[in-house]
Amino acid sequence: MSRRIATTKVSGLLLRQLGPRFFSTSSIGPVMREASTFSRPLGMEWVRIPMLEARKFSNLASSAGKDEEKAAEPPSAAVGKMSGGGGGDEKAIVSYWGVAPPQFTKEDGSPWRWNCFRPWESYKPDLSIDVKKHHEPTNFMDKFAFWTVQVLKYPTYMFFQRRHMCHAMLLETVAAVPGMVGGMLLHCKSLRRFEHSGGWIKALLEEAENERMHLMTFIEIARPQWYERALVFAVQGVFFNAYFLAYLASPKLAHRIVGYLEEEAVNSYTEFLNDLEKGDFEDVPAPAIAIDYWRLPPESTLKDVVTVIRADEAHHRDLNHFASDIQCQGRELREYPAPIGYH
Ligand SMILES: [Fe+2]
Ligand SMILES: [Fe+2]
Repeated sequence: MSRRIATTKVSGLLLRQLGPRFFSTSSIGPVMREASTFSRPLGMEWVRIPMLEARKFSNLASSAGKDEEKAAEPPSAAVGKMSGGGGGDEKAIVSYWGVAPPQFTKEDGSPWRWNCFRPWESYKPDLSIDVKKHHEPTNFMDKFAFWTVQVLKYPTYMFFQRRHMCHAMLLETVAAVPGMVGGMLLHCKSLRRFEHSGGWIKALLEEAENERMHLMTFIEIARPQWYERALVFAVQGVFFNAYFLAYLASPKLAHRIVGYLEEEAVNSYTEFLNDLEKGDFEDVPAPAIAIDYWRLPPESTLKDVVTVIRADEAHHRDLNHFASDIQCQGRELREYPAPIGYH
């Protein structure tokens, strides 16, 4: 009898300690009701974490001042203890894990508005890079890579013609794939071979993130149509798998192809800039996200944004041709320190 009582006490104690952890997020209601009957883990507070919508903070520079006060509310300001209320957001998440959204400030002390990147990930772009550089294809592999890109380029130009904004937006959905695939495969290779990567995993993932930020910038100015979304869906399915297989078969070919793709990206942004300078397209104010990401002056416009994006593409061009050159010379990427933070 006494053993049964002891077992009941132990299981009750375990249930009190572990019980809440087995509730799924869909059963937030029961967790809240049972809160008083379960012990909280030591040092943890019940917090209400609002679901922050990134686009809530997005605005063009022209309207930044108007919406600044509302948009600039730091994420942590909206976090309140469950018992104390606060937040008031309908989409709040209730959790006792104590993981409160971090709070950052800009250099001038004002709150940092973006969850998708942090102040130290912003940078001053290097506009001194040569945007006309070209790798002359000499051997068979180079020529194969060059003509693959040329063949892909023509239907793309025919489809978009001079719809530069749309072209740029959809181009970025493709451009952000190779860095992620290459970084992922180098990561797996590092694990398999028990060896360092030379920093190339990080360098390639940084490239993917930088390309994705180009896309996040363009979606502040233009919105894809349903058929463009469908096109991106299909192209991503094909391109991801094709690039994955190409990188497995020959990383130096894969990097060379990306080097030529980046050369074409530089060319298409140059055409975009030319048409903006001619006044064929409205030079709208730069999105607020671009001003913070590239540390641009507040009065910057789309032309400034396209200029810094073109400089980024030129850096990606050089990084990928360099990665291909290393391997073409019979060496491995890990033998050369990767240009981390190369923008
Ligand atoms: Fe890009
Ligand atoms: Fe790029």
